[in-house]
Amino acid sequence: MNVLFVSAEMAPFAKTGGLGDVASSLPRALRAKGIDARVVIPLYGPVQARYGDDLRHLFTYQFSRRSGTADVHVHTLEQDGVPVYFLESWPFFSGGEYIYTDLNWDRERFVFFSQAAMALAWELGLGRDGGEGWFPDVLHAHDWHTGLVPFLLHEARHAPEWQDVASVLTIHNMGYQGWEAGGYLWAAGVPGRHEPNLVYLDKTDNLLGIGIAYADKLNTVSPRHAVELHDRRFGEGLEGLIRARDADFSGILNGLDMQHFDPAADPVINHCYDATNFRAGRVQNKRALQNALGLEQDDNLPVIGIVSRLVDQKGFDFAIPGLRLILAETGAQLVALGAGDPDLETHLRTLEWDFNWKARVMIGYNPALSMRIYAGADLVLVPSRYEPCGLTQLMAMRYGALPVVRETGGLADTVENYDGGPADRGTGFTFLWEEDQAVRGTLRWAIDTFRGRRAAFERMQERAMRLDWSWDKPAQQYVAMYEQALAARRK
Ligand code: ADP
Ligand code: GLC
Repeated sequence: MNVLFVSAEMAPFAKTGGLGDVASSLPRALRAKGIDARVVIPLYGPVQARYGDDLRHLFTYQFSRRSGTADVHVHTLEQDGVPVYFLESWPFFSGGEYIYTDLNWDRERFVFFSQAAMALAWELGLGRDGGEGWFPDVLHAHDWHTGLVPFLLHEARHAPEWQDVASVLTIHNMGYQGWEAGGYLWAAGVPGRHEPNLVYLDKTDNLLGIGIAYADKLNTVSPRHAVELHDRRFGEGLEGLIRARDADFSGILNGLDMQHFDPAADPVINHCYDATNFRAGRVQNKRALQNALGLEQDDNLPVIGIVSRLVDQKGFDFAIPGLRLILAETGAQLVALGAGDPDLETHLRTLEWDFNWKARVMIGYNPALSMRIYAGADLVLVPSRYEPCGLTQLMAMRYGALPVVRETGGLADTVENYDGGPADRGTGFTFLWEEDQAVRGTLRWAIDTFRGRRAAFERMQERAMRLDWSWDKPAQQYVAMYEQALAARRK
């Protein structure tokens, strides 16, 4: 079975969050199951600058749309055995810009990318890469950026070559939809979207909504979030469409690349360790982290870590006031890494300004530092308002930092709350209310456990480190979904 991932992100080339991780690790897991999975992403300027020497120009094709004809240059490389195609085309993906810019330009860019990715599949099918011809059985779209792909496929099916090709859409984040894209769709020559639910619910110009209406099968990235998306609170205006597609919709929990994210072999952390020797090994990483950031080196001070995009979704607006109380009331240290909304960045920074002897806030995107935080912090705070899956808490647990999370979506599916006693159960600490006092109380509880019940804390660390988040099972669920999508087409 041939599967083409059409995605805006793929780690390590282009990543702002978990979508990048999934688009790189899931295809690899699928290939291990005999699926010929490949990925197409845009060639962003910084990616060309950084990886240009590794890329091989494959071929160039012309792509015509209402506004004219574009040359699309296809470059390629293999990433851990996965063929990746990078599309370069002026003015959308050529030169300086990275993944996301402003919404106006992004809608236009990703409408183009979705069209160009379909055209790529066609060109690959003709054997333009010099090979025998590779044509997808399944097009797998991700989030609003490529939500148009299932519709483009629907339209392409008037040609017999496309008739049996199936589409799958994965919703990683409902908070971003590619709203009001009608003008861009018209300009790009995309025909009207007449699927009845889409029309009745007035979403024909919503790129993610279009994907939901037209994909043969669709999923989100945890079972809990699949339930949540039926509700207005999480559906963000698309809950009606989700309900209409209920029979074809499921939740598949994300996996983690267990080889890549492995504290026993991670080259960027200071001291490697595993679930048998983490007590001695983690403390080395904690000291190195404290030392590197100019914090007091004391093994008994709990270190609270944060690694996050700083956007409304992540809940830091209500968490920061709770953290502020914790920093005032306890000896805990804070090590935070994040970037995003300038107001939230400033808000977080004030913690460093006010508690500069015990708090460090790094604004930016820094994969190596993120791993050092997972390896050296005692706790990792993830207070999300909503979280489709969340990889941060999985990485934290894998590295033995206990997550403190709001009980929603994938956080609820993956973090088991401390039992309050000897830790016969538990891999972290959970709370429900989106309030500073909930954050304060739960962090307090976690800190008290770290201080007063170290044996229970360590039992949870060991349990968390031994959990298996490998892609094996979820990849199997994706294969089943592809098969169902293909069966539905061939009926
Ligand atoms: P989301 O995709 O919503 O951002 P996830 O928890 O699924 O949330 O994935 C976040 C990923 O991005 C994790 O791999 C996390 O370590 C990484 N990440 C987030 N912010 C940063 C940052 N500032 N620097 C480095 N890595 C980051
Ligand atoms: C999104 C979600 C996150 C999820 C990631 C990968 O960015 O916010 O919860 O883990 O996609 O699926």
